[in-house]
Amino acid sequence: MTAGIGKARARANIALAKYWGKSDTQLNLPAVPSISMTLDPLLTETQVELLPELRADVFVLNGEASNPGELTRATQLLDCVRAEAGVRLYARIESRNHFPTASGLASSASGFAALAAAARQACGLAFDARKTSALARQSSASAARSVFGGYVELPAGVAGDATLAATPLSPPEHWALCIVVAVTQEGRKAVGSTDGMTHTKLTSPYYDAWLAAAPKLADEVRAGIAERDLGRVGRAMEQSTLAMHACALAAAPGLLYFQPATLAAFAKVRELRQTRAAEVYATMDAGPHVKALCAASDAAEVSRALAEVPGVLRTILAGPGPGVELL
Ligand code: PMV
Repeated sequence: MTAGIGKARARANIALAKYWGKSDTQLNLPAVPSISMTLDPLLTETQVELLPELRADVFVLNGEASNPGELTRATQLLDCVRAEAGVRLYARIESRNHFPTASGLASSASGFAALAAAARQACGLAFDARKTSALARQSSASAARSVFGGYVELPAGVAGDATLAATPLSPPEHWALCIVVAVTQEGRKAVGSTDGMTHTKLTSPYYDAWLAAAPKLADEVRAGIAERDLGRVGRAMEQSTLAMHACALAAAPGLLYFQPATLAAFAKVRELRQTRAAEVYATMDAGPHVKALCAASDAAEVSRALAEVPGVLRTILAGPGPGVELL
């Protein structure tokens, strides 16, 4: 480790039990618990270098200057670390997503987890997974989960509690599951998750029902992971994603993240299950891709079947991976 430089690697994650909605917008606290799987090989590598000659932070993302919004979010995170460490220098951040090209997958989880770890290291703070997770969570709640490997829970936040962090449930070796991502569209999503959540909370008549249902679904997913019971995890996972989307669909105007290919891929997953070709379940986030969950031994068959669905551009396979790593 060189003084003033921090370098870290973190992976994306998929929520098996979803979070949607915040209990405290200022502190970015989720209103419901969520449980995820950290995904290999979808990773981000980030370097933070403190440089006396800089008059502002610089953020280079995938070899290009980041947009102003991304820079602002990175600077906010750095400001927290600088305040804790008593550091006054600005930083040059270089971050690269090693995702399959234009996968259309959100990189905010791996990005902010890697940035949080690298920034703390650059400012001379000792590695502390809990503090890194709480820091990443302020920028993107799902990023709190990417600090840990395997199966991870982010509890619901109590308004005012700035220390909320994710907790690891089981390491990657606990269970060789696979996520097969059916990519259905290139480019960025139409409505980002934070705006979508705020809009849902303000206008959806189903928001309170979602708040009541989500913790029970997280309980099911947690118990299913502990027992390695794919049916238990999968049924709760599908209900969690459909309840989240139903809540968002009922907002005014409704938020529709699905494309025709999303529903076609979802139907294929159910067909594979009904015909007993593979035990597989599906989940969708704030975007049009379908993420299918199955045993690693069924992944090739599920990938082949999803790749044939009209509108599916390609598939990406990922398994449980480790948490954040300092490089
Ligand atoms: O915290 P964000 O902005 O990354 O929002 C995550 C929202 C979902 O991906 C839809 C659900 C989740 O728990 O990851």
